[in-house]
Amino acid sequence: MNYRRIVILTGAGVSAESGMGTFRDNDGIWTKYDIEDVATPEGFARNPVLVHDFYNARRRALGDAAPNPAHLALARLEKAVAAAGGELLLVTQNVDNLHEKAGSTNLLHMHGELARVKCDACGVAGAWEGDLDAATECWRCGRVGALRPDVVWFGEMPYGMDAIYERLSACDLFVSIGTSGEVYPAAGFVMEADMAGAHTVELNLEPSANARGFREGRYGPASEVVSQWVEDLVAKLGS
Ligand code: OAD
Repeated sequence: MNYRRIVILTGAGVSAESGMGTFRDNDGIWTKYDIEDVATPEGFARNPVLVHDFYNARRRALGDAAPNPAHLALARLEKAVAAAGGELLLVTQNVDNLHEKAGSTNLLHMHGELARVKCDACGVAGAWEGDLDAATECWRCGRVGALRPDVVWFGEMPYGMDAIYERLSACDLFVSIGTSGEVYPAAGFVMEADMAGAHTVELNLEPSANARGFREGRYGPASEVVSQWVEDLVAKLGS
């Protein structure tokens, strides 16, 4: 099958083997922290020190993290699809930068990025490498304490939704990788793609909460399963 319009969704599982940690697995991030405390605007208003400490630690971890074979395979696939005259949009729920480190370029961070901050007072947003604290001044408006991680918290609208739904409604292949299917709107993308008549594939360590919504599933560590699946698809491109 010669797929031309591909949408791929990734979640924490694609970065697990790079040491970034998943959320809902046995030793996941949400077993150690309360979502309400560190991933909501209300939690930030209540205790900005705790929220900054949480994201500072995760931002620091970015420096040591390297893409694994799954990230590299997806970057290779983007180039192969383009060379065959098609287009691949990679939508990630991850706030790490491992897809870009691997070389993916047509990439949308729907839950924001650890390496960016934004100002709640004036709205400016930009790249940020170091720590952030409640005394940090906004570089544009000068307000102290209004800078926050540019990540999407629960209760906030994910980024790029119009573009994502437009691409889902016209895709012929949708692939979901390393995500538990617990968090909407991302968990609903497979239904959109299915309604568009796309082939749908889940690649995950084990079947996710909405595995039955996919036409095909391949299970195992992303470094192995994604690499093999990409190899199989690239062999078929242009045929
Ligand atoms: P989860 O932690 O909910 O799910 C991770 C998925 O990856 C699970 O289905 C695991 O089985 C799978 N997995 C674990 N290790 C893997 C490996 N080596 N190879 C392949 N798969 C593996 O993470 P997400 O689905 O990404 O949002 O979570 C979605 C959103 O919930 C996140 O973006 C974050 C979180 O709360 C916000 O913070 C807004």
